[in-house]
Amino acid sequence: MCTVSRHHDRCYCRFLFLPDFRSFPLVEIIEERPRDRLAVETIARLSLGHRLVDSPAARLRQGSRKIAELSLVALEGGCVVATIRCWPVLIGAGTRAIQMGPVAVDPDHRGRGISRVLINTTLERARALGHRIVVLIGDADLYGRYGFEPALPRDITLAETRDRERLHVLALVPDALAGLSGVVRPDTIPALR
Ligand SMILES: CC(C)(COP(=O)(O)OP(=O)(O)OC[C@H]1O[C@@H](n2cnc3c(N)ncnc32)[C@H](O)[C@@H]1OP(=O)(O)O)[C@@H](O)C(=O)NCCC(=O)NCCS
Repeated sequence: MCTVSRHHDRCYCRFLFLPDFRSFPLVEIIEERPRDRLAVETIARLSLGHRLVDSPAARLRQGSRKIAELSLVALEGGCVVATIRCWPVLIGAGTRAIQMGPVAVDPDHRGRGISRVLINTTLERARALGHRIVVLIGDADLYGRYGFEPALPRDITLAETRDRERLHVLALVPDALAGLSGVVRPDTIPALR
């Protein structure tokens, strides 16, 4: 069950994890605040280990600034239990897209549908904000369910060979991927503005 909150100006959704409300209390999805940073980085480090800083996904984030409106946290009892961040990237000749990730859930809170809510909320917001394309580096098993498809058959690729086959793309509007190919790279310009 999802209700748009009218009580908190930065709360997008409140989810009751039915059917057992006692063991699945209210989770709020809000924009990441400066004070969430330590909790977010702790959960991300716990979840991803060295991949957080040493991976093709990490290198796609280098030099750019996260998109605040698409960097969300899940709160339970006021505590951060999950995080998602998004970053500007360019594809090929300069088509704008967003890179989604990392997505990380506190190990004690996994398997409750929290990442599903975070990802769906992020994709809905991205579409509403006018973004057209999302890329991520991750497993088809996990991300295929949200409509992501492998990027390599479209000749959308990474500068480095590692993880190329794990690069996925999603069109948020029809035909956004039509005729698109090329290398995905960080879009560092927004950070300089
Ligand atoms: C992967 C991760 C984000 C999933 O979070 P979660 O809140 O436990 O996932 P959910 O309970 O929302 O599951 C949503 C769906 O994804 C599936 N799923 C969860 N983890 C999965 C995995 N590792 N591989 C494939 N599918 C997975 C669930 O079965 C569920 O499927 P359903 O919709 O058919 O029921 C979490 O386990 C995590 O933080 N892992 C470590 C970090 C990581 O690997 N992040 C992803 C790469 S950036």
